[in-house]
Amino acid sequence: MADEPKTPVPESPPAPAVAKKAAAAKPAATAAAAGNDAKLAGRTTTAAARRPKKAPADDDTSPLMGRRGWMGLAWGAFTAANAGCLAATGRFMFPNVLNEPPQQFTVGFPDDYGIGVDERFKDTQGVWIVRTESDYTHEAPGFYALFSICTHLGCTPNWLSAENKFKCPCHGSGFRPTGINFEGPAPRPLERTRIALAEDGQILVDKGQKFQEELGGWADQDSFLQT
Ligand code: FES
Repeated sequence: MADEPKTPVPESPPAPAVAKKAAAAKPAATAAAAGNDAKLAGRTTTAAARRPKKAPADDDTSPLMGRRGWMGLAWGAFTAANAGCLAATGRFMFPNVLNEPPQQFTVGFPDDYGIGVDERFKDTQGVWIVRTESDYTHEAPGFYALFSICTHLGCTPNWLSAENKFKCPCHGSGFRPTGINFEGPAPRPLERTRIALAEDGQILVDKGQKFQEELGGWADQDSFLQT
């Protein structure tokens, strides 16, 4: 069998020759571009005229808020701090005023009362007015006023007329009409207020003074209004 004739394969130029060719082409391209720039020098192309102008560069480095934003925030904080200082200063211009009910008040004329415990001023003034034919201490007829505050823990007792006693609903302390404690945990009698006759003839009660039986206060003339 005869050998087939072989197709000759063209030989590729050696690598150094290709690099030489590229280096030669580069200056040619640069020269062409320089030629184009020279042609356009002094002219404004349509594309350049239409290109939007760039905004002046902001020197802010924050990605979240601009310089104006930071200035506004600082100014707002400064104003708020000043307002707080002013408010605190103004607060001292006005003293604390507690509108407490008056400690002295009149409760009517002696003839308005019968013998026994009167509850008319318990809710509004926190006292019972008691008229007696013979006082526990003074052994004379007259009036005294009892604070409606339990001497155990300060609850308000109830007057139970049927049982003729004050009874505390909290822990069961009991007090006689005189105010003497006789049952439950209350450690001492109810307290009395100052009582007197006002210029107009009414009974005057003064809660600014207290009289405690265990301290001998009930013997004080101001704790009892003799009639
Ligand atoms: S508060 Fe009155 S018995 Fe305790």
